[in-house]
Amino acid sequence: MPDPRTPLISGNWKMNLDHFEALRTLQKLAWLVPKDVLSKVDVSLHPPFTDLRTLQTSIEVDRMEFLLGAQHCHHETKGAFTGEVSPVFLAKLDVKLVICGHSERRELFGETDEMVNAKVKAIFAHGMTPIMCVGETLAEREAGETEAKVLGQVVAGLQGLKKEQVAAMVIAYEPIWAIGTGKNATAQDAQSVCASIRAAVAASFGAEAGASVRIQYGGSVKAGTVAELMAQPDVDGALVGGASLDPDEFAQIIAIAAEH
Ligand code: PGA
Repeated sequence: MPDPRTPLISGNWKMNLDHFEALRTLQKLAWLVPKDVLSKVDVSLHPPFTDLRTLQTSIEVDRMEFLLGAQHCHHETKGAFTGEVSPVFLAKLDVKLVICGHSERRELFGETDEMVNAKVKAIFAHGMTPIMCVGETLAEREAGETEAKVLGQVVAGLQGLKKEQVAAMVIAYEPIWAIGTGKNATAQDAQSVCASIRAAVAASFGAEAGASVRIQYGGSVKAGTVAELMAQPDVDGALVGGASLDPDEFAQIIAIAAEH
């Protein structure tokens, strides 16, 4: 069967780049990434909230093909949630993809599987696509618990979704020990966990959802490592942190992904 899944490379800028810096980074990327490359790979950019309006305007005015993304949102649409951002506001800014359940949010801000599940539903309810992150700690990996942890997060995060929703979403496998550390899972390890995620999705939501869901690998992805990852049959893209802040390196990653 031909692979129906367009690769997706996502730049998670985390708490980096103010709106001036973000705009410069976007413009440099637009200059470095040729249009024909963007016909072969989807690219989403996930800046801090304060940069979204600036990037939205530039993407729209200059008709860029980058997809605007966010790093987080609340599951309610409005109300007394000081400091939080509604999915309605993101949709209004033409945000297409929203990361949820990133390990930094789970670890540092106490997000639970239940909260992640509520966010996934809220993101869909407002016409956007979730990128749901899952991954194990080093201790869990060393104890042989990688699959139990990751598949547990997958099942909990997808609870109550329709199969068409699961088919349309993105799951990012990000081993926590590989994030921002310069260590990355081997391409074979990434493939093995991504294949298990796809099998778990197929078991719960049907073969079609399993075949369509896009699964990214994340954790210290660089221009030098992305080709081997993208060559794996169940790895459909990458969620890139540090290396996405450098337009030259990120453009290389995008170009390499477009070849797969
Ligand atoms: P990294 O971050 O590429 O800097 O490891 C990835 C992520 O946290 O999404």
